[in-house]
Amino acid sequence: MQKTKPIIELDDAGKTYQMGTVEVPALRGVNLKIHSGEFVSIMGPSGSGKSTMMNLVGCLDLPTKGSIYLDGQNIAHMSESKLAQIRGKKIGFVFQKFNLLSTLNAWENVALPMVFQGVPKDERRTRAKKLLSNVGLAERAEHLPGELSGGEQQRVAIARALANDPEVMLADEPTGNLDSKTGAEVIDILQNLHKKGKTIIVVTHDSAVARFAERTIHIKDGQVLKEVINGGGKK
Ligand SMILES: Nc1ncnc2c1ncn2[C@@H]1O[C@H](COP(=O)(O)OP(=O)(O)OP(=O)(O)O)[C@@H](O)[C@H]1O
Ligand SMILES: [Mg+2]
Repeated sequence: MQKTKPIIELDDAGKTYQMGTVEVPALRGVNLKIHSGEFVSIMGPSGSGKSTMMNLVGCLDLPTKGSIYLDGQNIAHMSESKLAQIRGKKIGFVFQKFNLLSTLNAWENVALPMVFQGVPKDERRTRAKKLLSNVGLAERAEHLPGELSGGEQQRVAIARALANDPEVMLADEPTGNLDSKTGAEVIDILQNLHKKGKTIIVVTHDSAVARFAERTIHIKDGQVLKEVINGGGKK
């Protein structure tokens, strides 16, 4: 796994939020390498900087110090439009609150990221339905989010994250709003994606979820506290 070059590298990456005159140092210089095809989990107390780190890794935000390399390219100095382009192609996101658009049905939600990549409509529908079928939701393609269970909504969100076949899948507390059985189904899907070669990074409060990853990075007060190698992502 370590033979490939890192797909993501944080080099002394830091983020300080400015709240009026008050500075909030959320991430204080993190060094981290994630290789293509790895399954990594990130744990840490509330407020320790996990989401901040995911937002940087996912090019949703820029660091205030240090560098972040995505596939060898330093994102720290990229324009917003270039960043959006890279993000749309290389990265898929899953959030705790699903973030589906309530007025679009399941397949339309999944197809949305394809719109921004210029995929023609018929192909969008076909691909979206295939992605839904892959997460066991072929029968729910026409349902609105409000007509789906929490676990089903999260599976739609996973299908949406895969819309443009990204190399990296980032999930910030993907099981945080789910009961343990439904959460296990979501983890199962992530494990299967890992087996297919995707790079998976998952933030979780739950050590039972974290140990499915090959390695767990513990962060505290905006810094990496330690790294733990798990059992290779086995159940
Ligand atoms: N947009 C923002 N503006 C100002 N401060 C912020 C902002 N986002 C986060 N913070 C602060 O940065 C710190 C890290 O926040 P972050 O959301 O990364 O924590 P977290 O580890 O994801 O926590 P949780 O487990 O509760 O989701 C916190 O102290 C938070 O209050
Ligand atoms: Mg968070």
